Amino acid sequence: MVHFKTLNDFNVKNKTVIVRVDFNSEVNPQTKQVTNSMRIHAHAQSTLKELIEKGAKVVVLSHQGRIGEPDYTDLRQHTDILEKILQHPVKYIDDLFNETAQNAIKQLQEGEIIVLKNVRSWSEETKKGTPEQQSKTALIQNIAPLADIFVNDAFSVAHRDNVSMVGFTTILPSATGRIMERELTQLNTVLENPQHPCIYVMGGAKADDSLEISKYILNNNVADKLLLGGIISQLFMTAKDLKLGKGTMDFLEKKELLNLIPGIKTLLEHYSDKIILPTDVALNINGERVEVLVNNLPSEHPIFDIGTKTVEKYVEIISTAQSIVVSGPLGVYENNNFCYGTKTIFETIANSKTSSLAGGGNTIAALDKYNLTSKISYISTAGGALVEALMGKKLPGVVALETATETKILHNKPPPTAKKKNIFSLLIRIFLKKIESVHV
Ligand code: 3PG
Repeated sequence: MVHFKTLNDFNVKNKTVIVRVDFNSEVNPQTKQVTNSMRIHAHAQSTLKELIEKGAKVVVLSHQGRIGEPDYTDLRQHTDILEKILQHPVKYIDDLFNETAQNAIKQLQEGEIIVLKNVRSWSEETKKGTPEQQSKTALIQNIAPLADIFVNDAFSVAHRDNVSMVGFTTILPSATGRIMERELTQLNTVLENPQHPCIYVMGGAKADDSLEISKYILNNNVADKLLLGGIISQLFMTAKDLKLGKGTMDFLEKKELLNLIPGIKTLLEHYSDKIILPTDVALNINGERVEVLVNNLPSEHPIFDIGTKTVEKYVEIISTAQSIVVSGPLGVYENNNFCYGTKTIFETIANSKTSSLAGGGNTIAALDKYNLTSKISYISTAGGALVEALMGKKLPGVVALETATETKILHNKPPPTAKKKNIFSLLIRIFLKKIESVHV
């Protein structure tokens, strides 16, 4: 396990701190308004609040969408949302690293906070490169010299080697923000030190990602049982030579997912006792839910949910868990006729006393829909970064922090003079004691 420098390691008072956050939020494609500000809340209530309260001069960097995509916007509304959450003035600077941004940084006073322009307004931001290469780019060269510390709080972008994610760490003393710290601690628990039995519940539509995660957690003895739903379960059933029927097979073929079957067969050969598949499913027959045992398939109708018997079996296995990871809904939960599997399994996890981690856009949306969010032990702010971490991949943003510039200058240790003073007063006390004892 790698030990990172955190905010505990630095005295930030009156220091200029560049903080990379991830304010990237869902936006309404027509109005461009942020529709879910969960990430802004997370950074505001932890790292940014703490830095302001400790008297840092805070410079916030973030992205929102990508140029040319419907979710690309500037960060004005994010700044307003941040200001409301912090109940503290936050200034938006419509510049990233030129004179206006540089002056704004130089003029910052203790406890003040500014948000710079969307980092992805600058085309170099997403160009690939090592931390050394990225550190030579205009963003870093122009603003790093004006700062004392770099804090990376954007775990959800850690799978990108973007300039603002890896370029500062070779130049500035660097630390994890509180969100990054929390995410890495949780991941370490889940991947390196899970409480056994550790149960993974996996579904959703991204079957290729789910397969890569399955390989990693099974090959590395992370998961004791893998409960499958969604598209990935249909591929596993097909790999076991179950005939699902035209409706489902047409869909899998159209999505070009059948090429995953050989990899799934290999996993089944090695881990058939750990991989648990549905024994019954809910078919969508003209919008109606019709349950059928998988042994009674094929059907021309598509599978939209796991069935009642499967739910019972999964609930029983979950009751034996000491840790649970949830990634992806088990059926088409957006349709009320097919939400039974997802709703019941998610409720079971939320109501169990076992520690649970959940992540991914659809998982969070489903937990939100059933008001279960507060009952999950840890909800990751990340989508792609979490998926890559669960696959066992090294994340460039995390690696950059691991190898960040060593510095002791700003550490929160008592200054040497104070230490010397303590030793000096101790010697005087010993000396006085000696004199006292001679005089008695
Ligand atoms: C995310 O939402 O997963 C992060 O903000 C990263 O966004 P990206 O996929 O556009 O790099």
